[in-house]
Amino acid sequence: MKPHVVVVGSFVQDLTWKCDAFPRAGETVVGKFVTGPGGKGSNQAVACGRAGVSTLYVGAVGDDAFARDAATFYRVEKIGARFAVKPREATGTAAILVNREGQNEIIVALGANAVLARKDIPVEAVRSARVVVCQCESNLATTGYVLKTARAAGVTTVLNPAPMRADFDPQLLRHVDILIPNETEFAALVNQVPASGETEFTAERLHELSSEGLHALIRSLGVANVIVTLGGKGCFLSLPDRFESIPAYTGINVVDTTGAGDAFVGGFAAGLVQFEGDIAAAARYGTAVAALSVTKFGTAPSMPRKTEIARFLKRRG
Ligand code: ATP
Ligand code: RIB
Repeated sequence: MKPHVVVVGSFVQDLTWKCDAFPRAGETVVGKFVTGPGGKGSNQAVACGRAGVSTLYVGAVGDDAFARDAATFYRVEKIGARFAVKPREATGTAAILVNREGQNEIIVALGANAVLARKDIPVEAVRSARVVVCQCESNLATTGYVLKTARAAGVTTVLNPAPMRADFDPQLLRHVDILIPNETEFAALVNQVPASGETEFTAERLHELSSEGLHALIRSLGVANVIVTLGGKGCFLSLPDRFESIPAYTGINVVDTTGAGDAFVGGFAAGLVQFEGDIAAAARYGTAVAALSVTKFGTAPSMPRKTEIARFLKRRG
């Protein structure tokens, strides 16, 4: 069966330390260690696949033990995966610290993700998908090629511009139907796009804007549909003819917010297929997927499955 959603992006082995409080410069603290599959692209593919939508993940890994574990993980999950093996590079890795409040600090080494090439992209799968999802944790030229190819074939393109990078070219936005930045990525984009008229916009200033003001600023990015995720505050949808705020779920036991953005994006992509392109319905579904993911530790392993999401939605609406 042809996958409905193709996610092209990073696979990263997450090396995570839980601690009470983050160490300050020069300080050593004692913590607990866990490791597992991560990377923004792969996390989003797992969120989408577990939500019950046929998904293909495309990314690059090294020829090492982390890559072999990744292949096993996808086989067990029964989610489609195409790994381009780059023998000269290591599989991407992330050092993640999570404190007692569930906040995180992350350093990512892109490794093989940085050399994902055009020839590694299964073009037919991209062209025949309903939705193609990319991020900025992989090779940016290849990301641009994927978005352009998908758009030309009439496929809905979604870009999560995470992490924002100094070498991000705003021209990439021309190939994007739905843009999903978090607050800091949004602020960085606003400063990079000349039409916004801003060069020193910050995530703090975003919160001082009225909904009308935020909607107007978002329009200057030139992307038809934008969803700014706002952590525990939910998200703001700006569509060509209207805007809407969707609150995050409250009253849940927040354990670890690492990968909340990925859960939202993967759940959103699944929702776009399930609700036949209804962006607001898909965003509400992504909000539920993200809420469930923050109640568990880890990134890909914390993504909820279809039945758990359905039970949660029935209970919480
Ligand atoms: P990360 O980089 O940690 O993956 P992010 O910064 O990309 O996350 P956020 O904006 O923090 O993404 O979160 C994405 C979505 O996850 C939010 O829009 C919200 O629906 C949900 N979410 C995040 N934090 C919480 C929380 N504490 N409680 C409930 N939902 C949350
Ligand atoms: O968004 C969370 C992800 O960012 C982690 O899985 C880590 O690998 C980094 O890429």
